[in-house]
Amino acid sequence: MRETHEPIPPLTRPSAGHVLVVGATRILRPAVTALAERGCAVTAVARSQDGLRRLVAETPGRVGPLVADVTTPDFGDVLHRATVRAGLTGALVYAPSGTPAAIEALTRDLVVSGPVVLVLTSKWAAPEAFAGQAAQAAQPGQPAQAAPWTPDSLPASSRPAPGCRRLVLGWHRDAGGARWHTSQEISAAALDLLDAPAARDSVLGTVRPWEERPR
Ligand SMILES: NC(=O)c1ccc[n+]([C@@H]2O[C@H](COP(=O)([O-])OP(=O)(O)OC[C@H]3O[C@@H](n4cnc5c(N)ncnc54)[C@H](OP(=O)(O)O)[C@@H]3O)[C@@H](O)[C@H]2O)c1
Repeated sequence: MRETHEPIPPLTRPSAGHVLVVGATRILRPAVTALAERGCAVTAVARSQDGLRRLVAETPGRVGPLVADVTTPDFGDVLHRATVRAGLTGALVYAPSGTPAAIEALTRDLVVSGPVVLVLTSKWAAPEAFAGQAAQAAQPGQPAQAAPWTPDSLPASSRPAPGCRRLVLGWHRDAGGARWHTSQEISAAALDLLDAPAARDSVLGTVRPWEERPR
């Protein structure tokens, strides 16, 4: 395993594109292995060398590890050096892996010929995140958060670069109650959005009623 900031090794020639995955070792880990299985090359970013080493061992020749911290000032340069010659055809970015400023810089400066999917946690849909809008949309006598919620309600700051596709993570609800989604479900939804023929946003599960989210 290379040290942080060293160039990633040449990957097996990609037959189905080259995808960058930022935050590759936990929630989006199944997406990395699925991309590798379909023949993509993947540049996988995380801070933990051990986590990336395990991922690389599972996907021989397909995943190039980039041990780096998204929040460091030189991350943009590191990423550019590591990926510019790869010919990136898409990217999955787990937003909590960096500060909003770091994620904005990352998505703005990315050289990629295809879709960029940004995975946002449900806190982006919290009523307090857009209390003014929700209050305006509510009917008299109804609580503000009963208003329908769609990704159109997200603040502009949640789309750090034009064309960026946003996946908002909600929760799963059925007769048994409410639960958070698994990494497999989240990864599958992220790949669906990456594969979508046209740019759009999406919600995985539901984000309303807010009081019914799992604790
Ligand atoms: N519906 C929802 O909103 C929803 C659903 C599921 C989970 N979550 C939330 O997500 C939280 C955390 O889940 P998680 O552990 O999978 O995510 P995480 O700790 O935020 O890490 C996700 C990925 O990002 C990487 N990462 C984190 N910080 C980074 C940085 N500064 N630079 C580069 N890579 C970085 C991690 O690897 P390294 O640590 O090695 O860097 C890992 O691969 C949970 O506690 C839960 O609250 C929310």
